[in-house]
Amino acid sequence: MRIVEVGPRDGLQNETAPVPTAAKVAFVDALADSGVNEIEVSAFVSPRWVPQLGDAADVFAAIARRKGVTYSALVPNRQGFDLALAAGAHKVAVFTAASETFNRKNINTSIDGSIDRFLPIVAAAVDAGLPVRGYVSTAFWCAFEGHIAPRSVVALVDRLVDVGIDEIAISDTIGKATPDEVRQLLDLLLPRLPAARVAVHFHDTYGRGVANVLAAWDHGIRTVDASAGGLGGCPYAPGASGNVATEDVVDALEARGFDTGVDRQQLIRALNHIDPYLKDDRRTLPEDGSPACAACQFSTGKVCCQRYRTTA
Ligand code: HMG
Ligand code: MG
Repeated sequence: MRIVEVGPRDGLQNETAPVPTAAKVAFVDALADSGVNEIEVSAFVSPRWVPQLGDAADVFAAIARRKGVTYSALVPNRQGFDLALAAGAHKVAVFTAASETFNRKNINTSIDGSIDRFLPIVAAAVDAGLPVRGYVSTAFWCAFEGHIAPRSVVALVDRLVDVGIDEIAISDTIGKATPDEVRQLLDLLLPRLPAARVAVHFHDTYGRGVANVLAAWDHGIRTVDASAGGLGGCPYAPGASGNVATEDVVDALEARGFDTGVDRQQLIRALNHIDPYLKDDRRTLPEDGSPACAACQFSTGKVCCQRYRTTA
C-alpha cells in the first residue's frame, strides 16, 4: 500500500493567499513524519501560470529528507524536469488529460502536444534513474466537455505506457466520478496494465472520494493519492474542489483492518503549519478545547465538511 500525499502540491496550488516558503517546508517535513510513503512536494510549472508554487526550488532545498519517503515533483515540460532534477526530486510526474479542452486550458497544448513534451522528459528521467508518473486528468468527467468515455481514457493510458511512463495516476479532476464509474474504467484498464502501475487520484467535490478509493481498492489498486485536510483543486478546472482527505482514506482503510502506517494526529499537526494561511471557506482546525466535527474532526464555527457538525 502506498499513500501519496499531494497536499503540498495539489493543495497549495489552489490557495488564493500566499503561503510562506518556510510554512510549506514545515508542512512537508511534518507530513513526512506522519508515515505517508510519498509526498508530491511542489510543481516546476510556469510561475506565470501557477504563482503559488513559484518557490518550488526553495522548498526542495530546505526540506529534510526522511529516509524511506519519496519526494516527487510535478513537471509539465523539459524545463520543469531539469529544475526538478537539480532540486533533487526522487520522482517526477507529468500530466495530461483525456479532455482536449482541459488540456488547452491547463497546459496550453493538445493531448498530442503533451505527449510530445513527455518524450524528452522520459528519456532524461531514464538517464537520471528517476521514475515517471503520468497523470490522466478528467478521466471521468471534464468541466468543459462533460462525461469522458472510458475507452478514450484507456487509449490515452496506452499511449503513455508506450512512451515509457512507469505509473499512471487515474485522476478525477473535478471530483464527480461515482464508484460504479471507477469500477467500469478499471474493468477496462486492468487487463491491459497491472494494478501495481496504477494510482488513483480522486477529488472530493461530491463527497464520493472515499467511496471511490474503496472501489479502486477492491479492484486491487494499492497506490492512493490524498491530501491532508482535503486541500486541493486545480486553478484551471472550474468547480474542482479538494482532494480526498488523507485522514479520511486512512480511517476508511483502517476500518477495513489494513494498517496504513499513517498517524492521523500527525497529519493534523502538519496542517497546523499552514492553517493560518488558508482561506476560510474550507474546513479549518478546531481551536484548542472546541469540539470537532464528528465526520472530519475539523470545525471552528467557521466551516468544516458540514456533514455531521457537533458545534453550532
Ligand atoms: P506556455 O505559456 O504555453 O509556455 O505554458 P511557454 O513555453 O510559452 O512559456 C511561458 C513562460 O513560462 C516562459 O517564460 C517560460 O520560460 C516559462 P517567459 O519567457 O514568458 O518569462 N516556463 C517555465 N518556467 C518555469 N518552469 C517551467 C516553465 N515552462 C515554461 N517548467 C506551460 C505552458 C505548460 C508551461 C503552462 O501552461 C503551465 O505551466 N501550466 C501548468 C498548469 C498547472 O500547473 N496546473 C495545475 C496542475 S495539473 C492538476 O492539478 C491536475 C492533477 O492534480 C491531476 C487531477 O486532479 O486531474 C495533476
Ligand atoms: Mg488533482
